[in-house]
Amino acid sequence: MKSIAVAIDGPSGAGKSTIARAVAGRLGFVYVDTGAMYRTIGLAVCRAGVLLGETEKIPAVLDDGLKVSLKYEAGTQHVLLNGEDVSSLIRTPEISKYASFVSAVPAVRAFLLDTQREMAKTHNVIMDGRDIGTVILPDAAVKIFLTASAQARARRRFLELQEKGETVTFDEVLADMVQRDHDDMARAAAPLRQAEDAILVDTSELTLEQSMEAVEDIIRRALEV
Ligand code: DC
Repeated sequence: MKSIAVAIDGPSGAGKSTIARAVAGRLGFVYVDTGAMYRTIGLAVCRAGVLLGETEKIPAVLDDGLKVSLKYEAGTQHVLLNGEDVSSLIRTPEISKYASFVSAVPAVRAFLLDTQREMAKTHNVIMDGRDIGTVILPDAAVKIFLTASAQARARRRFLELQEKGETVTFDEVLADMVQRDHDDMARAAAPLRQAEDAILVDTSELTLEQSMEAVEDIIRRALEV
């Protein structure tokens, strides 16, 4: 049977991963967090001593036998860098910057493309990212563009980081978010944009539960499940 793909794109902090993970669980789909894959390459590049902006040094890191793979434990995605589980290490402000930096490099996008498409070929997936509906899975059965105001997204991310004990201010988080939005939308390679056939969901005024319901409802109606 042909597998079913749901693409969820949008800027950082819109709640994509939390919502996609929960809805995938409810529908029995595999959740694929493609941002984690860019973050993993960001971590590898950072570890290799490459500074932000040194784009010309990235191909050597990719060609050095770099392997990014996914594994699932009790339905939770873990991302592996050359076999090492780096799922927690990639969630820092520094690696966020590296992820945004490497994601603008066409060689990095090409490097991850096959792994992402292969997942969708072999499983029913809800895949989230920036270019899933536009580039990776243009034939996805359902496409959702999930967004929220920069203020609302920064507030959520700030609370998350505070809970983890990171010492950042709200203004720093907001500034980072605005900068990353700009970088993600302005880059030449697969910029963040809403696919023409994607349904827009704005979560600025919605609770997490309401956002999940809205997304689940759209998917169930479209797939009639
Ligand atoms: O969703 P996230 O914050 O974990 O994503 C990390 C970075 O990777 C972010 O700057 C955008 C980029 N990204 C991308 O360019 N394409 C994707 N499909 C997913 C993420």
